[in-house]
Amino acid sequence: MFIPLLYGSVRTDRQGIRAARYLAKRLAQRGCQAPIIDPMEYSLPLLDKMYKEFAPGTAPAVMEELAEMYRRADGFIIVSGEYNHSIPPALSNLIDHFMEEYFWRPAGIACYSGGRFGGVRAAMQLRAMLPEVGMITIPSLLPIASIGTAFDENDEPTAAYIDEQTTKFFDEFMWFVQACKAQRAHGTPY
Ligand SMILES: Cc1cc2nc3c(=O)[nH]c(=O)nc-3n(C[C@H](O)[C@H](O)[C@H](O)COP(=O)(O)O)c2cc1C
Repeated sequence: MFIPLLYGSVRTDRQGIRAARYLAKRLAQRGCQAPIIDPMEYSLPLLDKMYKEFAPGTAPAVMEELAEMYRRADGFIIVSGEYNHSIPPALSNLIDHFMEEYFWRPAGIACYSGGRFGGVRAAMQLRAMLPEVGMITIPSLLPIASIGTAFDENDEPTAAYIDEQTTKFFDEFMWFVQACKAQRAHGTPY
């Protein structure tokens, strides 16, 4: 399965990148290809034109590269911090550039924050946003609290609950990934 992880912080001192690397590693251990879509690497402008607004073959190379990956995706993991009880702007911007490429694919929301609530308020907003761009969000969330100390220098969790919850979360996510992939093979309504 091809599962891009969309991560949305471009802060110099960003912490969530460790969660993204940890989740990518766990997906790889399940036999998935799981590239991290890091907005520091795939540098998009603040939204001007969506990918679909460009005539075929005229979109910037970075957008073509992302679109090609998203079209191959079997599902997405959204790795979101919480900024002012909301979705980090770099993540919104990354998501907003595309739409049809996400259709008929499940999304798992892994959220985190510096505090005890693990970014769940941003996750609630992602529950509203992701279906609007065509992703199907799975029932469970993966909230990670105290992100600054949740992972060691090897991106391994420092608390047992993280691995336990991640295993359950990915078991559920992969069920939906397989179900949607099987159904997409029969075509989609549009
Ligand atoms: C602009 C801003 C707003 C924040 N708002 C919240 C918040 O509403 N709730 C919370 O628990 N943490 C909040 N934090 C703390 C973040 O959870 C913490 O800094 C986290 O590491 C941010 O993710 P990042 O390091 O991947 O950018 C905020 C941080 C920033 C920079």
